[in-house]
Amino acid sequence: MRELTYHDFLATFGIGGAHPGGLALTRDVVAKERLTPVSQVLDAGCGTGQTAAYLAKTYGAQVTALDQHPLMLQKAGRRFQREGVRVQLLQGDVHRLPFPDKSFDLVLVESVTIFTRINTALGEYARVLKPGGVLLDLEMTAERPLSAKELEELSSVYNTRQVPTETEWTGRLQGIGFESISVVRGGTVASAIPNEQTPEQELPEFEASQDVDPRLYDIWSAHQALTEKFSRRLGYRVYRAVRKK
Ligand SMILES: C[S@@+](CC[C@H](N)C(=O)[O-])C[C@H]1O[C@@H](n2cnc3c(N)ncnc32)[C@H](O)[C@@H]1O
Repeated sequence: MRELTYHDFLATFGIGGAHPGGLALTRDVVAKERLTPVSQVLDAGCGTGQTAAYLAKTYGAQVTALDQHPLMLQKAGRRFQREGVRVQLLQGDVHRLPFPDKSFDLVLVESVTIFTRINTALGEYARVLKPGGVLLDLEMTAERPLSAKELEELSSVYNTRQVPTETEWTGRLQGIGFESISVVRGGTVASAIPNEQTPEQELPEFEASQDVDPRLYDIWSAHQALTEKFSRRLGYRVYRAVRKK
């Protein structure tokens, strides 16, 4: 029997805005980027396509959405049809993006790179961005360096090889051909959990499949347990970086 992953859990339950802060945070962060109907935008690791649909609807931008998970793509495709938005949807891997060099003005990545070979993925974002183009990458970030035991615990659910600190993420971006790197939003995981004090944080969206493998409930509870346990040791940051000219 195939081993199920955290992404199978997200895809099966159709969790949209599967990143800290959800669509509300995405809206705020993207609003500063001056998108227009001629902007070429890539949503890398688009999941069920909530952000891609929002960008196409709100800015009329030329949006390409890419993910490697077949069920995510199916749900994203259904969303684009339902909402009548024009988004180019592709199956692909951020380690080998299927686009020529210098294709995009904005590459938006929300909670994806952490699950990859980070430098390879960052290198691909840099390659497909036009010189002067912008990367916005929201990623899990360690509030302090994590021990091998902590990493092992996180890896058992998320299959992450490493969880860089803010300084480490910034250093990697610098080493890969980005400049003007800044952190435009961030906080601990605890600060991103919606509660009565933070009504502006929307609850995640769900579009559950009919057949749910019961093992996915185990992944869900393991994820919940880790979220609580690491709520102050882990955070998220939105890194903004400009592709060097
Ligand atoms: C936590 S979800 C976030 C989805 C979406 N960006 C959002 O915020 O709702 C991570 C997504 O990254 C995709 N993903 C992970 N590794 C990938 C890779 N190497 N290439 C393309 N997509 C990948 C997963 O399939 C999943 O849809």
